[in-house]
Parts: sequence; structure tokens; C-alpha cells
Amino acid sequence: MLYGLMTEEINFSYDGGLYAELVRNRSFKEDPKEPVHWQLVQERGGTGTMSLDPGQPFNDAIPTSLKLTVTQAAGSQRVGIANEGFWGIPVKPNTRYRASFYAKAEGVAGPLRIAIVSNDGATVHASAQVPRVTGSWKKYEAILTTGQAKPSAENRLVISTGSAGTVWFNMVSLFPPTWNNRPNGNRKDIMQILADMKPAFLRFPGGNYVEGRTIATRFDWKKTIGDISERPGHINDAWRYWSSDGMGLLEFLEWCEDLHMEPVLAVYAGYSLAGERVAPGADLEPFVKDAIDEIEYVMGGAGTTWGARRAKDGHPAPFKLEYVEVGNEDQFDRQTGSYEGRFAQFFDAIKAKYPKLNVVTTARVSGRNTDVLDEHYYRRSEDEMASHAHDYDTRDRAGQKVFVGEWATRVGAPTPNLSGALGDAAWMTGMERNSDLVIMESYAPLFVNVNKGGMQWPTDLIGFDAMASYGSPAYYAQQMFSLHHGDVVLPVTAQGVPTREWQPPVPGGRRGAPETPPPPPQPPPPPQQVPTLFFDATRDSKTGTIYLKVVNRAGTPQPVRVEISGLAAVEAKGQAITLSASSPDDTNSITEPTKIVPITTTVDGLGANFTRTFPPYSITVVQMKGK
Ligand code: AHR
Repeated sequence: MLYGLMTEEINFSYDGGLYAELVRNRSFKEDPKEPVHWQLVQERGGTGTMSLDPGQPFNDAIPTSLKLTVTQAAGSQRVGIANEGFWGIPVKPNTRYRASFYAKAEGVAGPLRIAIVSNDGATVHASAQVPRVTGSWKKYEAILTTGQAKPSAENRLVISTGSAGTVWFNMVSLFPPTWNNRPNGNRKDIMQILADMKPAFLRFPGGNYVEGRTIATRFDWKKTIGDISERPGHINDAWRYWSSDGMGLLEFLEWCEDLHMEPVLAVYAGYSLAGERVAPGADLEPFVKDAIDEIEYVMGGAGTTWGARRAKDGHPAPFKLEYVEVGNEDQFDRQTGSYEGRFAQFFDAIKAKYPKLNVVTTARVSGRNTDVLDEHYYRRSEDEMASHAHDYDTRDRAGQKVFVGEWATRVGAPTPNLSGALGDAAWMTGMERNSDLVIMESYAPLFVNVNKGGMQWPTDLIGFDAMASYGSPAYYAQQMFSLHHGDVVLPVTAQGVPTREWQPPVPGGRRGAPETPPPPPQPPPPPQQVPTLFFDATRDSKTGTIYLKVVNRAGTPQPVRVEISGLAAVEAKGQAITLSASSPDDTNSITEPTKIVPITTTVDGLGANFTRTFPPYSITVVQMKGK
């Protein structure tokens, strides 16, 4: 379970990211005043107007529709609405897109045309006609297939008519092909990047996203299930943009299923970012019940209330669930310290119904024997991250296990550079070496949409835009650790490990409730010597393969003498997987997605005693066979 993923709606991770929906503001709730991301189309003298219409509710969850009034249209004169997508609508050649929308009309005589059209209107990449729209809400669907189109994102989805009248629209949707062909599914390219990491688990749905800034804007899971046309969506005020909730609870679980990951389910725990909190006791009880219902939705049989609801939503089989996390970063509620009481109430209720579930706490509590503590570490330099790589070596083993549920070396934006990856890899040798204690780890944030305005938090593992996606050097470091390890940690001692001097930053708080006063200024701490070489070793007890990981942070090659004892012999031939670059500032990007990738080579000269020189700025896994 050590190597997994943490995810939340941040940096347009789902809407405009993994969740493959291409239409932005599909239910017109992003802005109550105007239909943002929509434009009026008037072709060849056609005229009309477009506005939000609260007088034509679509349903209880979506009260406002888009009204198109066509005053002049005939023949080639067309009037319609156009959606700009999330930084464009991606067109790829020979691709089938599933389009759908709900509409009702007054006086429109002809059919509607739905099309993917270049922004300049010159090229219709794919189009279809839908029958004449009637006077009551009805769903219209079409398949749009592109031909030999040149790949581009400079396109819009246009629904237009050639006759006068009024049409109201809602839930306008366009999906490209998705992973496993799921109808409300995920982008294939991003899923492939994740699959290539073989992650063991997915922690969701946050992060700050589960908390919201207020109780009203938390991740209210019951509003994220069922038909997408009945989900209200919500303002993701933790990260300041609208969330369609198309990526709802069931979609998170199906994402886990698709990539064979175990869900680590974070439940809302009665504390939101702006400081709103629910007092333990009767006030908290509805939230505890919500969490118990949520767990039942995930793992309950079809005979249970919420298991039956999951079956109705399309997934009769229960999901495997072993870990439930109560809240997120609740240490920030230091003003009242209410987590102690809140956690106890959740813990008792969860354990009473599901005694085998591991309950993860987000801050230290004394009132309950908790199973796992989620610790977060965001370090602002490679040296700082590396300086902590031995922290767990001396941690008391008597207490709870540790889930390092969020961490990153925050060097590079939007995605980390090689320096970030070197800091990460140094830190990961510490987690792997101590994986009797650190049972799970996940880098955060996972995703970023690299378009201007797409990023709320710099330094994210995987970047994308409408057309493409890529893994950062830090992604490849994660991948190397995740794919190449044994199940036994080997004790390693070392002499003569090189170091360099590092000036630690002045300590300071990161985030707190608004009422938290800033910490008083402090003098800079003394400089530290931080190793430039980090390492750990594991062994697969079934195959005998030894995985030696070496991180050389220095700008010079590093010869290392390796001596292995306790084995009859070690085969001379093995493999080395190396990630390196000529400068720590080198990175991958949307235009150079694979500048830095791991290279696998066959190596000779291994054995119980050998010397190997590790390149400058490198992360290496040496795989060798013990006998
Ligand atoms: O990963 C970004 C944010 O950092 C998470 O939402 C939060 O848990 C942490 O403070």
C-alpha cells in the first residue's frame, strides 16, 4: 500500500482535467448573472439574443436555463450558442465525440445542428442534426465524428438553428472517448499516466476540497451521486472555481476500480477552512450519520439502504474499503481544539458499525487509540526536503502508523523540475526505509491544468491542457519507486557520505484559521550539512531481487562501493533505471513532455562487492538478483 495518489478538485483537476467533459458551465450555474464561457453565434445576417433565464427551471437542482431568442434566421443565416470549453475544445482526427443536451422550444420550425467548429468559424470538424425541438424538456443526443482533422484546441461546440423562435438549453455536454468507455468517464491520456505508476490507493476527495471554506460548500457527497443532470454542483471556494460534481462519489470509486487502487475515503468532519465548525454532540450527529451513510454507499451490500442506492446508480457490487480518514488538516482548528471531540464521535460511530475499518486521523488526538495518522509536508527547497529524509528512522514504533498523505518538494511551477524530484527521491528513501511505520504515501497536488488561470497551487505532479498531458520529473521519481521495490527493507549502513551546507529558512506557520495571529518573527536557524547522497535497499522475498535506490543530488559523478552480505551470491548482470539531467533546473513541460524520463539499461559487474558510479543529479534503481 505504500505508493498511492492523493486527489482533490484543485488546479482544474477534474473539470477541465481528468473528468472528460469538454463543455464548461454546462448547467449555467457558474455565474448567476451571465452565461460565462458561452457566446452568441450569428452567421450571415442571422440575429438573436442569448441570456440566462431563471423563469425556465430545468429541475430543482438546476434552476436557470440558457435562453436563445432567434429574431432572424433563414437558409444559410444561422443563430446559435457556442461553448468555448476549458481553454478550448480539443479536436483530434477520426475521433467520436458523444454530444447531448436538453432543450425545449417555442416556434422554432427546423432542426438544430450541433457541431464542433474552429474558433474562426471556417472549419466544421464534425456535425449532426437533431430533430425539431418540442415544447417540453427533452434530451437530444448525437455522435460527432471528426475526419482527417489537424489536432487543435482552438474550437467551440456550436448548437445553432436556421429558423426564428426561442430555444432553452440545459446540461449541454460533449465527451471524447473515455477510459474503459465509461459514459461519464475520464480522459484516456491522463488515466494512462496514472496507470503507468501502478498506484496502490487513491485518497479522495481532499484536501481542502472536502472541507470547503464553509459548511455549505463542503464536499456534500449525497449531492454528487445519481444522474449528472440532477446534480446541483457547488462552488469550490477552497480553490475558487465552480465544480460540476460530474466527478462525484461513484466516479471516484470507479476511478479506483479502473486502476485497481484501494479507496482511502476522506469524510467531512465538521470543520471548514474559514473557521466554521460543528460542536461535538447533537449538532455533529447529522454529519456523523452522513459519513456512516457514505461508507455504506461504498461498501454496503445491495440489501442496505445506501448499497441499494449505489446499485441503482449503476454499481451493484460493493467496493473494497479499508481506510476512512476523518477530515483534513484538523490541526488548523487550533483555536478551539475541537477535533478531539469531533474525531471521537466519528471514530466511535465508524468502529461501532465497521470495526475492521482503519480510521485515519488528520491531527494528533489523545482520546482514542487511532489506527493511522495523516501527516503533511510541503518543503520549499530540495535541501529542506532532503534534510528530513531521516526523520522517521528514530520515530517511536509503539504508536499509530503514519500515512504521509500530502507532501512535495515545492520547486518548479506548474510542475516540479529535476531539483524537486531529487528532493522527493531523497525523502522517499526515508519513507521506504521506514515502511513498517509509514504505510502509505501520496504526493500532492496530483494535477494541474497548465493554462493561464488553471493553477491555484504551484508544483503539481502531472500537467495537462486540453490536448495533451505529461508527467513531471517528480512523477517519474514516484513511478520508479512505485514500480521497483521489494517487500522487505534491508538494513544499510554507510560511510563517507558527502554533504553540502544548507541555510534553513526562518520557521513560520503556513495556514491557519483567519483568527490565528501570525507567528512572532524569529532569527534564522544555524546552517546545516545535508547529505548529497541518499539510498535505501529492499528485497523481494519471493524472487530474491534486490532493489538498491541511490539519489545523487550533487553536480558531480559519485562512485559508490557497495558491499552486500548475508547472501550466497549476487548475479553479475542486472538492470539500472536512471532518471537524470544535466541541470537540476531541467524539467518536463507541455511542449517538452518527455525531456527527462527514466532510462533502463542492462548492467554488468554487479555482485556482492562492486563499485558503481552514479551520474550527477540522478535517481537510480539498481536491480540485482540475489541467490
Ligand atoms: O495540496 C494542497 C492543499 O494543501 C490541500 O488541499 C490541503 O490539505 C493542504 O493544505
